[in-house]
Amino acid sequence: MADKLMTIHLKVWRQDGSGKPGKLAPYTLEGVNPHMSFLEMLDLLNEKLTAKGEEPIEFDSDCREGICGSCSLVINGVPHGPQRGTAACQLHMRHYRDGDTIVVEPWRATAFPVIRDLVTDRSALDRIIQAGGYISVNTGNAQDANSIPVEKAQSDTAFDYAACIGCGACVAACPNASAALFTGAKISHLALYPQGEPERKRRVIRMVDQMETEGFGDCSNHGECEAACPKTISISAIAMMRREYLKATLSIKE
Ligand code: SF4
Ligand code: FES
Repeated sequence: MADKLMTIHLKVWRQDGSGKPGKLAPYTLEGVNPHMSFLEMLDLLNEKLTAKGEEPIEFDSDCREGICGSCSLVINGVPHGPQRGTAACQLHMRHYRDGDTIVVEPWRATAFPVIRDLVTDRSALDRIIQAGGYISVNTGNAQDANSIPVEKAQSDTAFDYAACIGCGACVAACPNASAALFTGAKISHLALYPQGEPERKRRVIRMVDQMETEGFGDCSNHGECEAACPKTISISAIAMMRREYLKATLSIKE
């Protein structure tokens, strides 16, 4: 038996450009298949708006598989929506009921200015990575995988932190708009591997300084970041970042 199609009422943030006033615009969308992803539902709405000669709603997406971190929607007040550990692109309409009203807004943070509608400028996160979120190695043949042994437990923890997709939901969820979970995940991932050791102290100082320069707030342990993170990155990354920063500032001067 075919799935019953739903009618969904939407209130979507519309904003003509950066610094312009915006507002929630109401739409009623019929013919929503419960198996559609949230982004496919927005695609359907855009098709209907375009057919009527109206401006489609701008929103970011790329992989639509929970990998790239592009989809940045606050759904009913929650970054990435109601399903824990799920990016907006992997949220499906079967989690909603016929006749539901859904409010869709962009990430809200001073460091993420709205470009248009639901699209924000998240290049501040790129600049934090540019400040130190890398390792420097001489080019040449790849080393044998076993030449630098790493304990399994340590490698697993590093991998958990490396799962961060850089979406910025942690910033959007935090009442201080802090980027501490994102930055902490990158710092912790690299600090746990021998390859990250040579630049370890310089990295944490530069990345934390850049985080402050970009206008992100400080962490005050609300834990909203961990709850909103589509990759369920542990808030322990922030504690590790703080330890790394303290050790680095006590031992070196830039
Ligand atoms: S820590 Fe989680 S919420 Fe923050 S940028 Fe990484 S994946 Fe997104
Ligand atoms: S579109 Fe890539 S994570 Fe959602």
